[in-house]
Amino acid sequence: MASLENSLISIETISDQKIENIFQKALSFSSHRSSWKSHQPDTAALLFFESSTRTRCSFELACAKLGVGSSLISGKAGTSLEKGETSLDTVLNIAAMGPDLLVIRSGDDLDLLELANLVDQPIINAGWGVKGHPTQGLLDVFTLNNALKDLTHKKILIVGDIVHSRVAASTSHLLTRFGAKVNFCGPDFFIPKELSEQRISSLKEGLAWADAVIALRCQFERHSGEYNVESFKREFQLNRHTLSEFKGFIMHPGPVNHGVEVDLDLKQDSRSLVFKQVENGVFVRMAIIDEILNQVRG
Ligand code: CP
Repeated sequence: MASLENSLISIETISDQKIENIFQKALSFSSHRSSWKSHQPDTAALLFFESSTRTRCSFELACAKLGVGSSLISGKAGTSLEKGETSLDTVLNIAAMGPDLLVIRSGDDLDLLELANLVDQPIINAGWGVKGHPTQGLLDVFTLNNALKDLTHKKILIVGDIVHSRVAASTSHLLTRFGAKVNFCGPDFFIPKELSEQRISSLKEGLAWADAVIALRCQFERHSGEYNVESFKREFQLNRHTLSEFKGFIMHPGPVNHGVEVDLDLKQDSRSLVFKQVENGVFVRMAIIDEILNQVRG
């Protein structure tokens, strides 16, 4: 059976040494194409039960660049999920076909920790309900660490829909491990009670404090009545006016609700690291796949 130590399911259990290895490899993959080693004939099953653009395509590209053959399920269409098969049965059947790695995006209905006891392959969590998104956390911190040179004592403000965000959970955990100070900004109902001591209620105050700001997508699909988009935009939107004096870096894991949490040209603004995050996502995922396959091979 695949041991949890070969899987990447939660950011909390990954060792500092492994993170260091992943970041060094990602740096090498991003700087020298010659360092892209071939893992042929290894294979990976990419099982995306929830929608995704960045994570899914970057895992596909990461596999291709490493010579890892991949098989993709993306949503229900054309699969036996349409006939009522459960996502657990789908994973168990695909695992029985013998890929070397399982990359899974799912909702809370699937328990990835339990699944690790049922299959032989290592599992990479590619976004699991609201529980966590460790590969996003790794690519965010890799990107910010490169931009700021060193994260120790750096001040990072995470703005918006923190309560629904698996990215906030993974990225803030990792930033803290790297010595950064993390605060959160948003309306009361977007900040979990356990984070209230790290809450800065005014965006102006938060931006004056921060070396970098990470905006999060407002997850409309998960909101109940208390959310008012117009008042959120008035108080917490990142735009030319609210960022007029901000000298730090701007990040967003995507997808962006333009005109809601952000109203800015994220491609042209020199402070934006948003497309650098996406670019680095491929190299960080290559490094994670390489690290796990090497570990399994011993
Ligand atoms: N950041 C992120 O997970 O984006 P996708 O949902 O497009 O993969």
